[in-house]
Amino acid sequence: MITWLNHIAIAVPDLDAAATQYRSLGAEVSVPQNLPEHGVTVVFVTLPNTKIELLYPLGANSPISMFLQRNPAGGVHHVCFEVNDIGEVPARLSDIGARVLGDGSAKIGAHGKPVLFAHPKDFQGVLVEFEQT
Ligand code: CO
Repeated sequence: MITWLNHIAIAVPDLDAAATQYRSLGAEVSVPQNLPEHGVTVVFVTLPNTKIELLYPLGANSPISMFLQRNPAGGVHHVCFEVNDIGEVPARLSDIGARVLGDGSAKIGAHGKPVLFAHPKDFQGVLVEFEQT
């Protein structure tokens, strides 16, 4: 079901500092992009084989705010795997006893493609995103 690692998302307390750090290591680093519908400002770090997304809270109800309160220095927020068929994800997760977050239907994610998230308590403490390729 899962194919490529699409990205690792890291919540950061200082977006400029984090972007500068990756840029100074030679990575291709985007300018910050506001994604109000997702409550984040994101900087994309593009590597030859995957991406890192640096996430910073945007707006009052950002899903990143609580995470940064618990992890003030920042931390890995989620990992995202590509899947060929997002429609089969809920049943496959159910088969292994893993819960889907939300109402179980795919939503349009930060890259304009359908995504689902699995409960971190069912994935070794890691929030896992599945993205339709
Ligand atoms: Co993501």
